Amino acid sequence: MTVLFFFQIHCRLINHLVMSSILSNVLPAPEDPVLSVIFACRDDPCPVKLNVSAGAYRTEEGKPLVLEVVRKAEQQLANDLSCDKGYLPIDGLADFNKLSAKLTLGDDSHAVEENRVVTIQCLSAITGFLSVHLRAPGYAKWSGGREAAHVNTPRPVPNPTWGNHPFIFTLAGLCVEYFRYYDPQTRGLDFEGMLEDLGAAPSGAIVVLQSCAHNPTGIDPTLEQWEKIRQIVRSKGLLPFFDNAYQVRCTTTFAFGNLDSDAQSVRMFVADGGECLIAQSFAKNMGLYGERIGALTIVCTSQDVARKVHSQVLLVVRPMYLSPPIHGASIVTTILKNSDMYKDWTIELKGMADRIISMRQQLYEAIQARGTPGDWTHIIKQIGMFSFTGLNEKQVRWMAKEYHIYMTYDGRISIASLSSKTVPQLADAIHAAVTRIA
Ligand SMILES: Cc1ncc(COP(=O)(O)O)c(C=O)c1O
Repeated sequence: MTVLFFFQIHCRLINHLVMSSILSNVLPAPEDPVLSVIFACRDDPCPVKLNVSAGAYRTEEGKPLVLEVVRKAEQQLANDLSCDKGYLPIDGLADFNKLSAKLTLGDDSHAVEENRVVTIQCLSAITGFLSVHLRAPGYAKWSGGREAAHVNTPRPVPNPTWGNHPFIFTLAGLCVEYFRYYDPQTRGLDFEGMLEDLGAAPSGAIVVLQSCAHNPTGIDPTLEQWEKIRQIVRSKGLLPFFDNAYQVRCTTTFAFGNLDSDAQSVRMFVADGGECLIAQSFAKNMGLYGERIGALTIVCTSQDVARKVHSQVLLVVRPMYLSPPIHGASIVTTILKNSDMYKDWTIELKGMADRIISMRQQLYEAIQARGTPGDWTHIIKQIGMFSFTGLNEKQVRWMAKEYHIYMTYDGRISIASLSSKTVPQLADAIHAAVTRIA
């Protein structure tokens, strides 16, 4: 009996060792600062915890918003018995690609007229784009086989930038360098520093630019500054790559239904006839976060180049996911195609923009009312979904511990996830953190 028992344990142990011998060697991943905030908030049992870390729009009731026009488009698709669920072509839904390019480049784009634009549907925007298209072998092929040179050429990204940018480039085996962008002293754009760093970038480097509503700072160059950036990018032979995640940006000057003004930076680069890459997302502006729908537009210098680039894109996509998902593309296409739905979309966008602007104002006034030391006007001056508060990591961690309020460690908060009810809670915490924690 004893022997049998020992034998069973022994067998189980051997079995266990054999069964777990491969995966047990996996090392734990290093802590991801963004994920650790998300997990800390998820695991916090406090009933009044507040998560202002995520870049997703929430209603006044704190709920995710499905746009009415999206529901309408889905209904229409559901009722249309001619819609099927077959595979899309490798580069996606043709109408979606055409309409996405039009949204980004404008109705009267010369580049489109001259057939030197390639647009393909992606798994959302930059995330899908980079993982697919900038993988070293793909990029090297595009650039005439100069793989080694391009792998080692730095990809300058703004400092700071969306936390995923450096991860995506690094995962693609590419080298990342930062150019100056934010000046903590002025809480504004470090324009001189930016120009200096771009001027020092090696020719052929891809420069990652956010077309509007810069995440995390909420600070964009003016049109005059964009023009100077364009000049330096072109004169240095850099390849501009726009992350267009926030067309519409929700500024205080947001013109009713004017999606065009947010694409001005991109269009300025396209108008000069040079090359340009644009990753267009429909996550934020149509609330289609989970549909993972976006487009990559590559503006080439000639139709011949565009044809070659397109052929390479198909080769890269095919082994990776064969063809992109159909549902999100069908929703976007339905809305962009139909002038009434398009108009309804812009009205709902205006509603979202107005709520964000109102939250900025309310937070600013609440901080002022508490007499919190410092100048907080940046809260109302910054644009887009986020505010780069200026709170330091120590203060952020303290607020999570004492007030159960969670934001990224760089002090960025999502204004779009605040409500009139949660603004006082956040203002109390900010006041306490600023007055008690250095
Ligand atoms: C600058 C920027 N790019 C891209 C994304 C992600 O967009 P998508 O959902 O289209 O991958 C975000 C999301 O927060 C972002 O801030």
